[in-house]
Amino acid sequence: MSTRKSLSGWDRAKREGQRRVLITAYDYPFARLAQDAGIDGVLIGDSLGMAIQGGRDTLRVSLEHMIYHTEMVARGAPDCLIMADLPFASFEASPAQAFAAAAALIKAGADIIKLEGGAPMIETVGFLSARAIPVCAHIGLTPQHVRQLGGFKRQGKTDAQATQLTADAQSLAQAGARMLLMEAIPTPLATSVTQALDIPTIGIGAGPGTDAQILVMHDVLGLNAAYLPGFAKRYLDGASLITQAINSYAEDVRGQRFPAAE
Ligand code: KIV
Repeated sequence: MSTRKSLSGWDRAKREGQRRVLITAYDYPFARLAQDAGIDGVLIGDSLGMAIQGGRDTLRVSLEHMIYHTEMVARGAPDCLIMADLPFASFEASPAQAFAAAAALIKAGADIIKLEGGAPMIETVGFLSARAIPVCAHIGLTPQHVRQLGGFKRQGKTDAQATQLTADAQSLAQAGARMLLMEAIPTPLATSVTQALDIPTIGIGAGPGTDAQILVMHDVLGLNAAYLPGFAKRYLDGASLITQAINSYAEDVRGQRFPAAE
């Protein structure tokens, strides 16, 4: 097994101070490209509800959607760590509900599942970890709580919130979480949590002090021209390039330059 796929490889990378990189992918070709580009881990995020399905949030994504996309991504990036999200309302009711959903994602090809939530999820993280399901806990801005949070807002800004997030991180790790993802929290907070934990941390909008970073593929490639979260970085104007290519094809057909007679 490649060191980027094995969890022990991720633990070692943290101990040795090697930074690791993840990106989201939702289908075979993009997962393949991510692996070929040398990415360490691929997340089948429930962000697919926005990036792929065109929704305004992630709440309509179902477990069946996640299974479908996880199978494609696992085929495309067999050498990368495959992480899959438990979608909204597939795991919160009980640890047993979470186990059934997580097991389905593992069977679809995930190496580790990710679930959103701090203190209320500690029992579930312990339950899954004791039953052969590796877990990445996701704290800070948890998009599945967007209605409660009143929008996609940065978290951990007050001392009380920072203390709570730090305590949650430690409890989740003690319960057996193998990784911790922190989204949209202040850099000093994410850095101090990273230094306090033995498990690898992944940051998005949490500054440079985490063990690994993740971004949404469609943000990196500029596939959504209309929107880019403040903490993301666009490395390609994909929307313009793709629109131009499709437009060239259409113009060639209309101008009778394609297909050629032969
Ligand atoms: O669903 C997702 O893509 C995520 C990342 C933004 C971390 O959870």
